Amino acid sequence: MSDVAAPQDAPEPVLAIAIDGPAASGKGTLARRLARHYGLRHLDTGLTYRAVAARLLEEDLPLDDEATAEAAARTLDLGALDRARLAQHHIGEAASKVAVMPGVRRALVDKQRAFAAAPPGAVLDGRDIGTVVCPEAAVKLYVTASAEVRAVRRFREITDGGGAADYEAVLADIRRRDARDMGRADSPLRPAADAHLLDTSEMDIEAAFMAACRLIDAALAARSGT
Ligand code: CDP
Repeated sequence: MSDVAAPQDAPEPVLAIAIDGPAASGKGTLARRLARHYGLRHLDTGLTYRAVAARLLEEDLPLDDEATAEAAARTLDLGALDRARLAQHHIGEAASKVAVMPGVRRALVDKQRAFAAAPPGAVLDGRDIGTVVCPEAAVKLYVTASAEVRAVRRFREITDGGGAADYEAVLADIRRRDARDMGRADSPLRPAADAHLLDTSEMDIEAAFMAACRLIDAALAARSGT
């Protein structure tokens, strides 16, 4: 047996795609499809904030105690996020309350970065992916739509799932979530300076997917100099 070390393989390139945007902008569905299309893993970072909020609600713990919320965030297992359970409307509202806490954000961002760094790379969607979690992402999209269009989408999501909803209440909720997400001191929702804006107010998911692929393909081609 030779004691000469085998030449190191070149590290596999890791591709990160950052998708940010406000509540019900369609970024989650878009991110899942993009991950499939580009052969990458996917993380909906909203689910991580939702999971922390859900745990506090389940255990009857306060939503406004940072040490408790941070402890829940540190022990969160990204492999055990149950989308169907966490999708509930009231959990989203509670998530945006725990998401203002820097201790919770630090704990979750550490886990999100580790996820993004594993080959072959990942599509992450959230509020601060392009600005904080993956500032070096190869491509950044900021997906948005008017508050009214987003409220219609969220309303349909709830009623299609058999739930009852009031459109005006859903719209008010979207506006309150926007204000909280854009107004917080730590990692507010805003487009990164180098993000591509994608307004989906007039697009269905297919049109949004095609537009996103065009932006991503152009950005990747420019990056590789082709
Ligand atoms: O699906 P929806 O857009 O309603 O919400 P979500 O993406 O599941 O996120 C729920 C809440 O988590 C948001 O309102 C944000 O306050 C927070 N969040 C965050 O602060 N940073 C992220 N990267 C993702 C979500």
